[in-house]
Amino acid sequence: MCGIVGYIGEKDIKQILLGGLKELEYRGYDSAGIAVLNNGEFSIFKAVGKLINLEEKTKDFHPQGFSIGIGHTRWATHGKPTELNAHPHVGKKSYVVHNGIIENYAELKKELETKGVEFLSQTDTEVIVHLFEDLQKEAKTNFEAFEKTVQTLHGAYATLLVTKEEPDTVFFAKEGSPLLIAKNENGEIYFASSDTAVIGEASQAHYFEDGDYGYASKDGVFIFDKDGKPKQPKWQKLEQNKLSAQKEGYRFFMEKEIYEQSDVLSDTLLGRATENEVVFEEIDKELFDGINEIKFCACGTSYHAALCASYLFERYAKIRVSVEIASELRYKEPLLMPDTLFVVISQSGETADTLETLKMAKNAGLKTLAICNVDNSSMVRLADATILTRAGIEKGVASTKAFATQVAVLWMLSLYVAKLRNTIEKDALQNQLRTLRTIPQVVKVDDGMHERIKRLSKRYLHGHGFFFIGRDVFFPLALEGALKLKEISYLHAEGYPAGEMKHGPIALADPELFTIALLPKNLLFEKTRSNIEELSARDSTICVVGSEEFEKGDDFIKTKPHRHYMQEFFEMMVALQLLSLEISVRLGNDVDMPRNLAKSVTVE
Ligand code: F6R
Repeated sequence: MCGIVGYIGEKDIKQILLGGLKELEYRGYDSAGIAVLNNGEFSIFKAVGKLINLEEKTKDFHPQGFSIGIGHTRWATHGKPTELNAHPHVGKKSYVVHNGIIENYAELKKELETKGVEFLSQTDTEVIVHLFEDLQKEAKTNFEAFEKTVQTLHGAYATLLVTKEEPDTVFFAKEGSPLLIAKNENGEIYFASSDTAVIGEASQAHYFEDGDYGYASKDGVFIFDKDGKPKQPKWQKLEQNKLSAQKEGYRFFMEKEIYEQSDVLSDTLLGRATENEVVFEEIDKELFDGINEIKFCACGTSYHAALCASYLFERYAKIRVSVEIASELRYKEPLLMPDTLFVVISQSGETADTLETLKMAKNAGLKTLAICNVDNSSMVRLADATILTRAGIEKGVASTKAFATQVAVLWMLSLYVAKLRNTIEKDALQNQLRTLRTIPQVVKVDDGMHERIKRLSKRYLHGHGFFFIGRDVFFPLALEGALKLKEISYLHAEGYPAGEMKHGPIALADPELFTIALLPKNLLFEKTRSNIEELSARDSTICVVGSEEFEKGDDFIKTKPHRHYMQEFFEMMVALQLLSLEISVRLGNDVDMPRNLAKSVTVE
């Protein structure tokens, strides 16, 4: 997702801005740009695609001496990923970069247009710079104009603004999106949306709080809170080691990625889960014209996300769904019918088997869609349409946040298709969208739950195997829980539909068989309960995950009470991820690089 950098000082500003953006690259983006004010003149460079394109454009740019500058990597929300929509955005003599969404941009834009202001881009961001320049006309100082600008904006933003009228100053504001200021002993000032962008350059950072705004120049940093009261920066020492900084204090990338699910899911939903509808600017509605079936195809964790989709699509969009494991589909001489939309799901976009099935579907003349985390990957390039999951780079081999964002996208897509097919009432859709928007909060790791799972994990290091059981979408979640555990603990684990145990697997039940039972309150509670009782009667050791304690279980991971089963789904997902992590840690395994596994499986 979007990244911001800024700099005030005498060093090579081009290298600092581009270097900072490079460190933020892992968040994903589709265009980038910088604006540098040096010797009273602005130099602006923007490019679509990877940073290398921007580097190419700036290769003859060598500013000397003191400069100020701002830079940005953009993940398109309002307006397509074009050069015109890339930040920084320009007014007459000022430039702005921004992360987040300005909710009242449409009305502000209309107002400014009536005053004769011309807009160049389709972005919400552009209103900031025009509003600032409009307010400048009346204001006594540039800061006063900036302050009034910030007070007029509604929504989420981290923003930096520079103007020719004050060529040594960067104005900043933060509400809802992260932003920090950093400095070093030479008096240089840096800005960034994440400290990884300034590590190695700056020694201390101050992290802005929501409502903060102000300006910085050679003369100092001036910060004001949301009530306009001045406040002092709280400088904190910055980590100097880039690798451990990337883990941001977590023991493993997997742990960090579990914890950052809340942030990445906010990114996944950004601009898409609105109040009344699901918006996917990147796809055309016509993609679904003449479609009577959706065939999902994927491997591993992505296959589990596809299985979740099969429940959601049939339930909400009332459309026939089939789900295929890519390595199986390839050789089974499948019937690929022209009224089927073929959807591949992949974190990497490079998995050989999935990619091959996408080629098969294209050759058979089917419409195709890729749900993918990596832009410009082979699947993204090949499919007719793409929805990016916006999980950022996933480093842990065991997938966590990629799965979370896939399920969120699929849930949104099921509602999008439901609306197209008129299979969902307005109120029901609004209710689903409200629930969707709670998910970033739902997946925030609860310290109490993590502690409990850490303690509990010591009881689950042996035994002859694990059953993870659940019904409906909790069945694919059980499969995913079992996969996570086997990947990093090397213990044998299987996922089962809870109702299927009595058809064979229950023969394995004894005290050394551990059952992790997913017991949501809002979906098939009684049915699942009965299935757990069947196992309990056979003396299996049972750990129940749910909001209501189950007297016949041995252990209990308590989730919060929720009103919707998908909220329970996402909280249980976090619990299962943490359980695998803590069991693996106790067994002394390499959590991030488990044996025999690779992050991207580009061989058949
Ligand atoms: C499990 C895991 C794998 C991948 C699978 C497909 O934690 O990461 O099962 O899900 O190899 O990979 P992608 O999604 O990149 O196609």
